Amino acid sequence: MRSKIVAGNWKMNKTLEEAQTLTSELLGMIADEVKGDVKVVLCTPFPYLYPVKQQLGATRIAVGAQNCSEHASGAYTGETSAAMLKSMNVPYVILGHSERRQYFGEDSKLLVKKTDIALANGLTPIFCCGEPLEVREKNGHEQLVKQQVEEALFHLLAETIQKVVIAYEPVWAIGTGKTATAAQAQAMHAVIRKHLAGKYGTSVANEISILYGGSVNAANAKELFANPDVDGGLVGGASLKSREFTEIIKSI
Ligand code: PGA
Repeated sequence: MRSKIVAGNWKMNKTLEEAQTLTSELLGMIADEVKGDVKVVLCTPFPYLYPVKQQLGATRIAVGAQNCSEHASGAYTGETSAAMLKSMNVPYVILGHSERRQYFGEDSKLLVKKTDIALANGLTPIFCCGEPLEVREKNGHEQLVKQQVEEALFHLLAETIQKVVIAYEPVWAIGTGKTATAAQAQAMHAVIRKHLAGKYGTSVANEISILYGGSVNAANAKELFANPDVDGGLVGGASLKSREFTEIIKSI
């Protein structure tokens, strides 16, 4: 179902103690200041999912993983399965982040498997797509992003794809301080939604949340989130600071 979502991607940052401090600060600020029905997700490193979840208790803030294995279980040293996440009641998992694609060689074929196993375990995938700078400079960004979405998700049934959240994250905007303009974000989100509509029909496409990610901060969030096809954000660096992340959530 289409909802407003702000997800923080902590990546490989913070000690346990720092993670718990950030969580307790966010708990207070969000309870006091965030109105409306925006969903907040903290995508923590794997070891912190359980303690952070315990700390959050029955609040509006959920936890999410940053990845999961494509395998169900077994001899895959160092991996974490979707079933393990399910067993801890972790509702979300980021899949296909550009850092996973770039540093760990994740491609569409693998992401089909990860998406399927995440959905089979009742998790909500936050599926990331986005073009590198050289592709945008050659004006190939729409084509590439449509292809990424199609290759990893278009095998899903209409009722299943509505359970997926899509995050458009132009690679050149991640961690660079260089944000897509509000117009660039809206244009790409509209392209993605139109592509979904072409395959599944408008009513299904309108049920899918599409988040923007890439150097979202307290200063640019309002303008980005004001776009009709931008349903929230996937926030990296700025999600590590409680005040700034809260301001971003309040911008929606
Ligand atoms: P950033 O990261 O906000 O630090 O650019 C976003 C992301 O990688 O999800």
